[in-house]
Amino acid sequence: MENISLNNGLVCPAVGIGTFMLSPADAENSVREALKMGYRLVDTANAYVNERAVGRGIKESGVKREEIFLSTKLWPSEYENPNAVDETLERLGVDYVDLLYIHQPAGNWLAGYRQLEKAYREGKAKSIGISNFEGEYIEELETKWEIVPQFIQVEAHPYFTQKELRKTLDRYDIKLMSWYPLGHGDKSLIQEPVFRKLADKYGKTPAQVILRWHTQMGFAVIPGSKNVDHIKDNLDIMDFSLTDEEMAEIARLDKNERYYHRTDEQLRQFAGWRPDFERA
Ligand SMILES: NC(=O)c1ccc[n+]([C@@H]2O[C@H](COP(=O)([O-])OP(=O)(O)OC[C@H]3O[C@@H](n4cnc5c(N)ncnc54)[C@H](OP(=O)(O)O)[C@@H]3O)[C@@H](O)[C@H]2O)c1
Repeated sequence: MENISLNNGLVCPAVGIGTFMLSPADAENSVREALKMGYRLVDTANAYVNERAVGRGIKESGVKREEIFLSTKLWPSEYENPNAVDETLERLGVDYVDLLYIHQPAGNWLAGYRQLEKAYREGKAKSIGISNFEGEYIEELETKWEIVPQFIQVEAHPYFTQKELRKTLDRYDIKLMSWYPLGHGDKSLIQEPVFRKLADKYGKTPAQVILRWHTQMGFAVIPGSKNVDHIKDNLDIMDFSLTDEEMAEIARLDKNERYYHRTDEQLRQFAGWRPDFERA
């Protein structure tokens, strides 16, 4: 597995498994199977309401905790809860996470970021990150952070490559972790002729070509899946490399267009919603 070097000296696997919209049963299954087949990066969040299930999947896999790069996210309802980090660790069944994000720039997000910094200093989070903090939000945070984050997690795929944001990231060596890396399964992205052509050339699937593009862009990538064949395919992308010409051809697909358009009203709703955390 290729690793990504972080600005605090740690490394993170380039490919992992995402668990957004997976029920607890599916998340437990996907995480266990993914780890058994060699994945070492797992991404979840308070808001996915499957952290306990992810923790069970990790235990059932038999893979040692220290070999796994575990990432989760505090939801805005937790930003002012002084026990949020400990409660998150308790749900996951671990005593530290490798990466802790604040999930949205909603509510008192600076209090949330201060919790990340505290968790980092205490060793409860080995690295920290911001999720969905593009534009004005990262600009404001830049003037306030005491610890520069290691990661930002944002929507990114060949139709939307975060060109603008990456200029800021490069200044601080903050790494990008792509969400919706496969366009949330959008067929029109996966079926772009260039991916079919390259898939045929390298003996891969179009989805594998897209994921390889992410890693060659320097992004960490966490495709979500509850299909064991897809999970296997999504890890099996390191035995070929796209040429500079092929990367340039894919770059021409960039429409600077997202799938997900968040509004200020949604941010207000995010701030007012509390996940109904799993009890067991
Ligand atoms: N920070 C945030 O706000 C945020 C937002 C969204 C997502 N995320 C994170 O990013 C991860 C990835 O996003 P996502 O899961 O929404 O979207 P995605 O990875 O772009 O797409 C997932 C979809 O693609 C399908 N798929 C997966 N592998 C495939 C393959 N090899 N061939 C064909 N189809 C395939 C899956 O179906 P099958 O189940 O049938 O494989 C699923 O429908 C999430 O799981 C989550 O961890 C974060």
